[in-house]
Amino acid sequence: MKFATELIHGGNPIDPEHGSLSHPLYLSSTFAQHSFDHFGRYDYARSGNPTRDALEEAMAGLERGTTGLAFASGMAAIASTFLIFRPGDHLVVCEDVYGGTFRVLSTLFSGWGLEVSFVDATSLDDIAAAIRPNSKAIYLETPSNPLIKISNLSGAAALAKQHGLLTIVDNTFMTPYLQRPLELGCDIVLHSGTKFLNGHSDVICGFAVTATAELGQRLRFVQNAFGAVLGPQDCWLVLRGLKTLKVRMEESQASARKIVEWLKAQPEVEKVYYPGLPEHPGYETHRRQASGPGAVLSFELSSAAHTRRLLEGVKLAAFAVSLGGVESILSYPAKMSHAAMPPAERESRGIKDTLVRLSVGLEDPDDLIADLERNLNS
Ligand SMILES: Cc1ncc(COP(=O)(O)O)c(C=O)c1O
Repeated sequence: MKFATELIHGGNPIDPEHGSLSHPLYLSSTFAQHSFDHFGRYDYARSGNPTRDALEEAMAGLERGTTGLAFASGMAAIASTFLIFRPGDHLVVCEDVYGGTFRVLSTLFSGWGLEVSFVDATSLDDIAAAIRPNSKAIYLETPSNPLIKISNLSGAAALAKQHGLLTIVDNTFMTPYLQRPLELGCDIVLHSGTKFLNGHSDVICGFAVTATAELGQRLRFVQNAFGAVLGPQDCWLVLRGLKTLKVRMEESQASARKIVEWLKAQPEVEKVYYPGLPEHPGYETHRRQASGPGAVLSFELSSAAHTRRLLEGVKLAAFAVSLGGVESILSYPAKMSHAAMPPAERESRGIKDTLVRLSVGLEDPDDLIADLERNLNS
C-alpha cells in the first residue's frame, strides 16, 4: 500500500462485527473474562484497549516499526523512553532539543542519576567526541526546535551501532509522512502526537515506535508500569486526524514555502530558518533523509520592538504554544517552548529574543502573508 492508503486503512480495518468504517470507541477501563482458565486479550485498559491498539498498530505501520505505543503526551512518551535506561547511564542529546525534554533531563532524570551531554548534533564528530564508556543512546531532533538544525540520521545511527548505542529520534516536526528514521537505521521514534499527527489542536498525546520487538517489549513494560497511557477517546480522535495527514502536510508545506519566499524579501526579517532553503546548511542532508521540508519555520526580526508588534498584532496565526494544527500558530520560543531553559543557556544555543516560529496551517497563504505584512511593515 502507498502511504496515503495506509493512512486511511492501516490499523483501521472495517469493523468485522457491524461494518462501521470508523474504528469503534471502547470506553471501558476493564474487560470481563469469560473463562476462569483463559483470559481474553484485554483485561485492564492501562495494559491495553482495542481503540488504543488500533492507533498503536497504525503508528507502528506508518513509522515502519514493530511496536507502537500511545502515551498521554509527547513528554510522557519521551520520559517513559528514558525509563528504559538505568541510573549511571549516559545519553548524548542534541543541544537545541525541545525545552520540555531539556527540562526533564536536566532536573528529574539528572536527579535520578542519568547523565547527559548536550552536543551540536549537526556534527557527527561532536556526537562521536561526546560518547563515553557508559553511553547508551544518541537522542536527536531533526529538524530541531526552534532553530531548524539538521542532523544526519543514518550517519548518527551508524556511529551509534559502532558503539553499541541506541539512536532515538523525536520526529514530531516531520511525521512519518515526510521522514522515517527507523528506515535510516534508528531504533526508537518519538512524537508529540499533539502536533501534526492529530493535527486539530484538540488532543495532547505522544507516541513511541520501536524498530525491534525486543525494544518494544521493554517500552511496553514501562508504558504499563508507569501508566502514562492515552485514553481511548483521544485515541479515536487521533485515528481520525491521521487519515488526513498527507493532505494536511502537503497543503501546509506548500504554503510554508510561499511564506518563506515572502519573508526572505522583508527588510525587517534578518534571517529565515527553513530546511527547504538551498542556503540552509543542512539542506542536502535533509533532502537525502526526508521527502519535504515540512510546515514549520523560524525567523529572526531586526529588533525587540518589531518582534513584540508582530506577536501582538497578528490575527490569523494564533499567538500560541504548539504547532502542527490546521490553524497557523506563531510562537515565541524565548517565552514558550524554551522558557524552561535558563536565558544564558538559550542565548548560547542561538535562540535569540527576536526569534519567532511559525507553524503553517491550512489557511490561504495569501491571507497569512497579508496578516504578517500588516504587522511587520506598518
Ligand atoms: C519537538 C517536540 N517534542 C516533544 C514535545 C512535547 O510534546 P507534548 O506537548 O505533547 O507533551 C513538543 C511539544 O511542543 C515538541 O515540539
